[in-house]
Formats: sequence, structure tokens, C-alpha cells
Amino acid sequence: MKLDILLGLQWGDEGKGKVVDYLAPKYNVVARFQGGPNAGHTLEFDGIKHVLHQIPSGIFRNDILNIIGNGVVLDPVIFKKEIDALAKFNLDLNKNLVISKKTQLILPTHRLLDAAYEKSKGNKKIGSTLKGIGPTYQDKIARMGLRVGDVLQPSFKDKYNKLVEKHIQILGFYNEHPDLTELEKEFFNSIEFLKTFKLVESEYLVNDSLNKGNTVLAEGAQGSLLDVDFGSYPFVTSSNTTSAGVCSGLGVAPNKIGEVFGIFKAYCTRVGSGPFPTELFDEEGKTMQKVGNEFGATTGRPRRCGWLDLPALKYAIMINGVTQLYMMKADVLNVFENLKVCEAYKRENGDIIDIMPYEIVDEKLEPVYTEVKGWNCDLEEVSSFDEFPKELVDYVKFIEDRVGVPVNLVSIGPDRTQTIIKEAVVAQKN
Ligand code: GDP
Ligand code: IMO
Ligand code: MG
Repeated sequence: MKLDILLGLQWGDEGKGKVVDYLAPKYNVVARFQGGPNAGHTLEFDGIKHVLHQIPSGIFRNDILNIIGNGVVLDPVIFKKEIDALAKFNLDLNKNLVISKKTQLILPTHRLLDAAYEKSKGNKKIGSTLKGIGPTYQDKIARMGLRVGDVLQPSFKDKYNKLVEKHIQILGFYNEHPDLTELEKEFFNSIEFLKTFKLVESEYLVNDSLNKGNTVLAEGAQGSLLDVDFGSYPFVTSSNTTSAGVCSGLGVAPNKIGEVFGIFKAYCTRVGSGPFPTELFDEEGKTMQKVGNEFGATTGRPRRCGWLDLPALKYAIMINGVTQLYMMKADVLNVFENLKVCEAYKRENGDIIDIMPYEIVDEKLEPVYTEVKGWNCDLEEVSSFDEFPKELVDYVKFIEDRVGVPVNLVSIGPDRTQTIIKEAVVAQKN
């Protein structure tokens, strides 16, 4: 069997949680491969709304093994809170959720460092979620990090103290002298809690599953345009959010990858700082924000909104090898008579380009728009592609035509049921 990937093609919050939960019954395994509690994945079904940060979005479905992979950075304190919030759902978490021993641990001081680094950047700040993501990946790459498997070793406390000593030195440089007493109490409590879960070598689990003919879905966090290599650096997150990150974040070889489901909003949003060529500062942007309820699932910050950006979408499709597109939040555009789609950028020197240039951070790119007619009606009653208003069909075809990849799913509301499939070329569960 091959492993399928679902990831976001924009700046995050495309609706990954909703779609993973929707697709999960077709899979035996759902695995997170990067990111950490900076993610906020929202699931809505049976009148409940749930936001997951580190736990894979297959957790509410029966008989699915959910894996937190080695590429993730895990905050044990937030993990405990997430698990506590799931208590009322009667899930068999000790059976259905496992964590790679190679997953990096976020320490309380990583969070403090994140805040200190951001503060020192002043108005050049990244707009981090301040969950300690950057400093934890920094320690991983510097070969100083602590991993989940370390919590089982007698030397854990020593290793912890050595790393925290370094962090305190750095914090002192930034004039921060925190009292860690309460934070450490909470941290070590959570570590004991973490030990009650199955800590595994998940690369074997994933590969054995595939070899047995089981289906595996890798769930991306953040979005392709926040990738540390390909995003608008330095306004990015600290992991590879693109499909290459699946190989290193789960231990699967490139030739094991099957479908790559790329999901995008019918428009664009971005939370935090950094370039956003199609950003709207007018009433239309405010309408998108209001109708789409565009406020961060992790931080509650308002999301910046703008029209669909095709050069950015094409770039993300190329980097990820997307085989199928899923378009989310089509219903948010119901209120617009006309829609704009950015087909190219005008550079400061007047050149028209349809690629993402290296200079995106330093140069103002003016979007070149094509205007198309909106459907301007409710989609509540729609239950199949055939029932879409003509203008929505045209919008989908327009995108397919420009990017060369089929749009096989359109989402028309936050609920699990508000999902319309054109052609599901997804694997069947074993
Ligand atoms: P993720 O991080 O990619 O999982 O996305 P988030 O959960 O952060 O943000 C997506 C938001 O849009 C959530 O509040 C979802 O409940 C909501 N949502 C998902 N799909 C749709 C849709 O098709 N229409 C509308 N109106 N909301 C949606
Ligand atoms: P999901 O998985 C949207 C953004 C932050 C900030 C930048 C760096 O829910 O789509 P970090 O905390 O990683 O140091 O922040 O990345 N960011 C996200 N934006 N959705 C996310 O995750 C994000 N995770 C990080 O706002 O601009
Ligand atoms: Mg989110």
C-alpha cells in the first residue's frame, strides 16, 4: 500500500482537520508528521466542535490508529489538556493513540525563548503562535533537544536540567529572568501523564502497516506557504510543511507516497506577519473575515483575508506533487456578486510574472486579477456536484484549467456532512 498525504496549500487553516476527520474512515492509520501545538484543527459533527492541536484528526473515528510522528514537536502540558478535553467522548486513547519516541519535546523554556525572540524583533516579528515551535526545532537541529523516548530514561531529569541551564543563559541575554517553579511542576506532571501512553518506534508501525496492505493518511499542519524552505522566509514556521516533510517526519520512503490531497480555501487567509499579495483591506476583506469566521483556532487572532492567489497555489501544487485538489469554504463566497482571482503579479519594475519570486518579502507585488461572476446564492440545499449553481461549477473549472489538477471535493460548511465529493480516488480501508 502507498501512503496518502493531506496538506494545506496556503498559509494554514484551510480546513485540514475537517477533511482528515471526513476521510479517516477510509484509513487504518492517521499520522501527524510535523508541527506541534501551533496547529489548530477544527472538527465539527453531531453538533460538537472540537479543536485539536497535536492529536491527529482521526481520533474521533473508530478503529483508527493515530500516530504523533517523529517530525512533530510535542508540548506535554498541552497534550495533557487535549487529552483531558477528550475524556467525555469515551475514546480508547491508550489503544488508538501512540507517540513516536523520536518526537521532540517542547519545554516551558522553549515557550519563553519564543516570546523573547519575538519581543526582540519589534515590528519585524513573525507573529508566532508563541508555542515554542521555533526554539524546539532549533534545539533539534543543534542536536541538543530532548525526545519523548528520553522520558523513560533515568537520565531524563539531568538532560532536562542541562538544556534548561542553556536556555536560562540565553533568556538572561534577553534580560528575562523567569521563575520556573510552577511551569516545571506542570511540566513534570504532564511528563508522568505522557508515560501512560504507548511510546513507540513509529517508523516501523507505519511501514509495517503499509506492507500489510493497510491504508495510512499523513495529516499536514500549517500550510505550504509557511514551509521553512519554500515559504516567505523568515515569515514561516520552523518545519517542512510540504510533502517532503512526510518522508523525514514519519520515516517513509518517497516511493511509498500515493495520493497527495492539497486543500485550499476558495479565497486566502493568513494569520501572523508576512507577505500576502491579495490581502484585502476593504469591506470585501471584512466580509470574508466575518462570514468565514476567520479567527485563529489556536490564538483567536483575526485572520487576514484576500482573494484566491493562483501563482501561490500553483507553486504549492508543484512543491507538493498534488494529485487532487479539495476546495474549502466555498460557502463563504456566497455573498459576493463578483469574485476576483489573482492570475499574476506585477513587479515593482512593471514586469508581469506568474511565479512566486524570491523577493516576495522585500518587494511589493501587485496582484493582476481576473474577475469572474459569483454564484451569489445559498448552498445549504446542495448535496452533489450536479446541484452546484453554474457559476460555482465555472469557478471550479476555471481553477482546474489554470492549475491542471482536478478539484475533487468542495466543502460548503464546517460540518462533516457539508462536504461534496466529485470523484473520490482515495484508498479503501483494509
Ligand atoms: P485547519 O487548521 O486547516 O484544520 O483549519 P482550522 O480549523 O484552523 O480553520 C478552518 C475553519 O473553517 C474552522 O473553523 C472550520 O470549522 C471551518 N470550516 C472548514 N470547512 C469549512 C467550510 O467549508 N465552510 C465554512 N464556512 N467553514 C469551514
Ligand atoms: P494549522 O495547522 C495558520 C503561523 C503563525 C506565524 C507563523 C510562525 O492550524 O493550519 P510558529 O508558531 O510556527 O512559530 O508561527 O506561522 N502559523 C499558522 N498559521 N495555521 C497554522 O496551523 C499555523 N501554525 C503557525 O501565525 O505567522
Ligand atoms: Mg488551524
